[in-house]
Amino acid sequence: MQNFPPSSYGSLTTLLLPPLSVLDLGTGAGLWAISMADEFPRAEVIGIDLAPLQPRFELCDVNQGSIPYPDSYFDLIHARSMHTGISDYPRMIREIARLLRPGGLVLLVEPSLHPYVDGERLRLSTDATSSTSNAPNGGGGHPIEIGNADNWYSFWETYRACLTRLEIDITVPERIAEMLLSIGSFEDIIQRDGNIPVGFWPTGVSYA
Ligand SMILES: C[S@@+](CC[C@H](N)C(=O)[O-])C[C@H]1O[C@@H](n2cnc3c(N)ncnc32)[C@H](O)[C@@H]1O
Repeated sequence: MQNFPPSSYGSLTTLLLPPLSVLDLGTGAGLWAISMADEFPRAEVIGIDLAPLQPRFELCDVNQGSIPYPDSYFDLIHARSMHTGISDYPRMIREIARLLRPGGLVLLVEPSLHPYVDGERLRLSTDATSSTSNAPNGGGGHPIEIGNADNWYSFWETYRACLTRLEIDITVPERIAEMLLSIGSFEDIIQRDGNIPVGFWPTGVSYA
């Protein structure tokens, strides 16, 4: 997946004044944390992860009780693309509320587990309820051709079934704003939806 640097979320500089303490949950290779540290050289940026992918980051399983930092320690907490490793996402949000200073900022970014085409959820081409067909030039017809769309649909369906069997809540990406609200510790909640391109770009079609 392409790395979306901190600046792609909007102007963090207008929201945050240095010096900052920043926590990146499930940091992976640390791409976001490194970009954040480059953008804010005076910030202390800490990345935690289950796996020791980056030697200067810290090992921590977010599912195992509390994250070992004091209350109100961080100005900014970020977590991206990690909900499939989290057994209780609302509990993680409550832990974020404990770690975040009053007035701090939390950024949660989770890709939907449903692929979209032209703003609509991808459906099986045999799905009679579908308003458009995935088959090239079939039914209502998508303006772009999608090779093997039914296989792609089945892949995501299987992935969701595997996660469900592991008791991972597959509805998290669509419900983050609702969960933040229901925990009651956050205000000024903003939800922004975007597209993450997956797979090939169809030839002859350009998307800005
Ligand atoms: C898909 S990667 C995303 C990495 C990074 N956030 C990014 O957007 O580039 C998910 C990361 O979350 C970590 N992760 C998943 N479950 C976790 C947990 N319970 N505690 C800590 N890290 C976890 C994984 O080890 C992996 O590095």
